[in-house]
Amino acid sequence: MHPVHQPDGMQNIKTRLVHEGEHGERRPGGVPTALPIYTSSTYIHPDTASLDNAFNARSGDSQYVYARFGNPNTAGLEAVMTAAEGGRGAVACSSGMSALYLALLAAGTPRGSIEPHARHILASQDLYGATHTLLRDFFSAQNVPVSYCDPTDLAALRSAVQSHEPDVVLIESMSNPLLRIADIQAIAEIVHQMDARLIVDATMTTPILHQPLTQGADIVVHSATKYLGGHADVTGGIVVAANGMMVDVAQRYARLLGTCLGPFEARLVSRGIKTLALRVREQCVNAAQIAQRLSAQPGISSVIYPGLPTHPQHELAGRQFHGLYGAMISFELRNADRQAVFRFMDNLKLILPATSLGDIYTLITYPAISSHRDMSEETRHTRGINDNLVRLSVGIEDAGDIIADLDQALQNSY
Ligand SMILES: Cc1ncc(COP(=O)(O)O)c(C=O)c1O
Repeated sequence: MHPVHQPDGMQNIKTRLVHEGEHGERRPGGVPTALPIYTSSTYIHPDTASLDNAFNARSGDSQYVYARFGNPNTAGLEAVMTAAEGGRGAVACSSGMSALYLALLAAGTPRGSIEPHARHILASQDLYGATHTLLRDFFSAQNVPVSYCDPTDLAALRSAVQSHEPDVVLIESMSNPLLRIADIQAIAEIVHQMDARLIVDATMTTPILHQPLTQGADIVVHSATKYLGGHADVTGGIVVAANGMMVDVAQRYARLLGTCLGPFEARLVSRGIKTLALRVREQCVNAAQIAQRLSAQPGISSVIYPGLPTHPQHELAGRQFHGLYGAMISFELRNADRQAVFRFMDNLKLILPATSLGDIYTLITYPAISSHRDMSEETRHTRGINDNLVRLSVGIEDAGDIIADLDQALQNSY
């Protein structure tokens, strides 16, 4: 069976995102241009020797036995993401959280072993809330020590790596909601000096801004629920690894734990990825205009956007993200308490108060009541996540319309 046809001669990421992993099985009657959705849970082989062979198949071999082990739709998604990230293979997962879990298992598995058991995980202090909880309630609870550091402070990171001797380091390419940027190349060098492995959750930056594996990371993870899917209609995740052994370990645990992505979801994510380059570039252009406008608004006391020269890692962002600055903006409403923020958000007419990011729609979230709800007020404030801070995920609507909505909501809230 050869369902995944890969045209030759495709180099540019924009081309690969459109064609890689796509197109149906070669049949006498014609090849479907779009890969069909394979709902079958089992696969029949011409003889038992072929079935035996298919049982040995690895991710990317285009051999299927049972849907929990993989199917043509997840294989197509894995192929396009492997190409997009410059990896050796990928494992499609049911969510960003299951992708992070598998990545931690794969990175924590010693070379030559099949038993996942990290000795020590060093993680960024600014991780997505559920990732923090996964480390605390799952890994720490199973006696894997976890410590935290600020990955934007390279000296502190080096000293944490030297003192804790972690075998796994986990960071996000852009933190939430303060949009701090980690220098992947510099961090990878420090991590590799201690023979540890670096996982980068690049959900916020996507392969359009950068490819962490080509900058030295060992594993890159995405919540496909965000930019990859892009249309608020699918939940998924993906792990892409720089070496085959980590792909095999991630795949082995995906099959055992049943963290597989369904064929319909894989199709939706693959379809989203075809327009990823167009969407993300448009979102970045919109975000730059909106950040400028917000900076000139007297009702706003501070704007955090990597494209503004005032951002602490503005220069690094420009270099690392090839001139793009992402489509996330955080800002503080001047002298606003919780009620004033609620008023502002309720006055928005176009921008949606939905707890996610990376969609075609512009979304607003209030970290104090959503992503950082479980953090004590004191810790939140120490981290710089104040009660007047909101986060915007800029969509593909007309920038003028988004700006007009923000302007009217500000005017009507004060
Ligand atoms: C940076 C980041 N990583 C991982 C996740 C988890 O993804 P999912 O909700 O698809 O499990 C999220 C969700 O918001 C996220 O923002």
